Amino acid sequence: MEIVPLGPGFAAELRCVTLAEVAADDAAYAAARAAFEEYSVLVFRGQEVTDEGQLAFSRRFGPPEVTKVGSLGTGTHFVILSTIGEDGKVVPADHRLALRNKANQLWHTDSSFKRVPALTSVLSARIVPSRGGETEYVSTRLAFERLDPAVQKKLENSFAWHDYAHSRGQISPDLATPEERAALPPQCWRLVWRNPANGRGALYLASHSYAIEGVDPAAGKKLIDELMSAATALGTSYVHNWQPGDVVMWDNRATMHRGRPWSAHEPRLMVRTTISATAADGLATMRLPSPQAAE
Ligand SMILES: [Fe+2]
Repeated sequence: MEIVPLGPGFAAELRCVTLAEVAADDAAYAAARAAFEEYSVLVFRGQEVTDEGQLAFSRRFGPPEVTKVGSLGTGTHFVILSTIGEDGKVVPADHRLALRNKANQLWHTDSSFKRVPALTSVLSARIVPSRGGETEYVSTRLAFERLDPAVQKKLENSFAWHDYAHSRGQISPDLATPEERAALPPQCWRLVWRNPANGRGALYLASHSYAIEGVDPAAGKKLIDELMSAATALGTSYVHNWQPGDVVMWDNRATMHRGRPWSAHEPRLMVRTTISATAADGLATMRLPSPQAAE
């Protein structure tokens, strides 16, 4: 396996290895896992991807999420990201699928609004537009490490609220349905996720975050906006240009990403599998301590 760094201080392509090899072979998994902990975004090119093969690879990293209500693929282990309607044609710009796609163009980390957040997402390109439709990544680990040590310390002891309806509300007020709101109540997570494998902290932020626990709402929102801007500053991102056969996986604890637009008449079809974080990934340290625990 060859590791080729791609981005500004993070992201790498893994060459001479297939998803099937990582799924089947302990040594290949160990090498890929070490690269994942180090580089946060891993690119595999020229893969022969099937749903089953993608899932077998993803399962190596932990338990797969079951797709939430209201998403294509609900109840399975696959999220289907598509702008192709039931009639086989590309949907119009005001269609729910197109609006959801627009919400994906806000900087975010996957599943921070769920009861169990995600360790990693694995995304494979099935149909790609001729241009545009890239996925752009930033390292929230490097963003954290750019901050003043006193600020780092304060953030490490702060907790942010995340809500799916909040990010969707930025696109359209009723984009999150009543069913989704009921299934996905707001969640509170520490603002810094420390990786147990290397001890490095990362900002845990997303378009889903809207408030800081115990902080005046306006001041909390201002802090979130400032941290988001600093984390996504010009020159800090890796932009992935998708080709058929590409698979990209990223560490949701240490990155944010956003989809980039493409011309509306061209179809795009991507399939995502998402792996939940576990105690071994540092999950227990992320929860708001209960008042009883502090006494
Ligand atoms: Fe995403």
